[in-house]
Amino acid sequence: MRKLKVGIIGLGGIANFHREGILASPDAELWSISDCNPELLERRRKEWDIPSSRAYLQYEAMLQDPELDAVTIGTPNFNHYEIAKLAIEYGKPFALEKPVALNAEEAVRLKELLDRSPLSHMVCFSYRYKSAVRYAKQLIEEGRLGTIRHVYSQYLQGWAIDEEIPLAWRFRKSLSGSGALGDLGSHILDLTRFLVGDTRRVLADADTIVSERKLPDGEGKGEVDVDDYCHVLSRIESGISSVMTISRFAYGRGNDQRIEVYGSKGALVYSLEERDTLQVKFAEEKDTHFREVAIPDECRRGQMQAFFDLLNGRGDGKDATMEDGYRNQLAVDAIIRSFTEQKWMDVE
Ligand SMILES: NC(=O)c1ccc[n+]([C@@H]2O[C@H](COP(=O)([O-])OP(=O)(O)OC[C@H]3O[C@@H](n4cnc5c(N)ncnc54)[C@H](O)[C@@H]3O)[C@@H](O)[C@H]2O)c1
Repeated sequence: MRKLKVGIIGLGGIANFHREGILASPDAELWSISDCNPELLERRRKEWDIPSSRAYLQYEAMLQDPELDAVTIGTPNFNHYEIAKLAIEYGKPFALEKPVALNAEEAVRLKELLDRSPLSHMVCFSYRYKSAVRYAKQLIEEGRLGTIRHVYSQYLQGWAIDEEIPLAWRFRKSLSGSGALGDLGSHILDLTRFLVGDTRRVLADADTIVSERKLPDGEGKGEVDVDDYCHVLSRIESGISSVMTISRFAYGRGNDQRIEVYGSKGALVYSLEERDTLQVKFAEEKDTHFREVAIPDECRRGQMQAFFDLLNGRGDGKDATMEDGYRNQLAVDAIIRSFTEQKWMDVE
């Protein structure tokens, strides 16, 4: 089969992951790159051995290339909407980073565009591809936990404690939509939807711990106007009661994700700090302790290979779609309303 010619838009941190996935796949090749930062574009072009004719400052010019089969979009959240909209207009399948947009209004417009002009696409909720998460989903679907009652989740990082980190886009609402919530919480909200269902009502508390940071360009400081942490009490569909803990200020934590699901006859704990693990305890197996389970090989799947499989008509139906991205954004927006107004909010 011919290799898919894939372009990467946005050449910052996440682009490395996109590129590694392209290079690791027998089904794709890195065809073109785009970034609005000319120095970075040229540096990556040389490092990654891309011809000048396929390195673009303007992503629209890249999308006009008739040979290009698909793109990954890994720019800051504020331009996800514009870039994905243009990809849809040019009929270029895309893998779009999370959160899908700045807010649900933008997300619903993307969903409606795709409803009118269907096109292969994926939202990069990367933790759906953790093998322990996939196995957890299988065990829940097999009914091994019985009726699910509680989900307790956390996603903790500690990097933002460093007050010398400048006021990058992640600290500015107009560029990111929200702070730790959209960055980390969006993953947990998606995993919750993936595993047990949609979040229906929320009560949240959030705050900004370091309220000013030095400007990335020039003198002086600017205001951080997004959440540094966000704690959410929620009701999930079918009445599941849940607590979600999200922070960029958890000292000592790198990328600590943990989801505990408790049912009427079993429980499981997915954990990701050093490695992707799943512990279970089942009544029917008379388990006396939580025990780590071996993950079946069929649960191992890479995000970028899943994207190429989707484009080649071999998707397994588990990739996040714009519908998932939109539902996610609705929950994020309701949480922002809740911590702003300090009251329960319906996700709608
Ligand atoms: N799936 C995950 O686990 C995961 C992890 C990290 C980041 N992300 C997401 O990836 C996105 C990017 O994050 P990052 O950490 O790579 O950010 P980053 O700041 O490191 O990189 C963003 C890049 O986009 C470029 N850019 C901005 N506007 C552009 C435009 N109009 N055209 C082309 N390039 C443009 C910037 O110059 C920069 O090089 C965010 O949406 C973030 O939430 C997802």
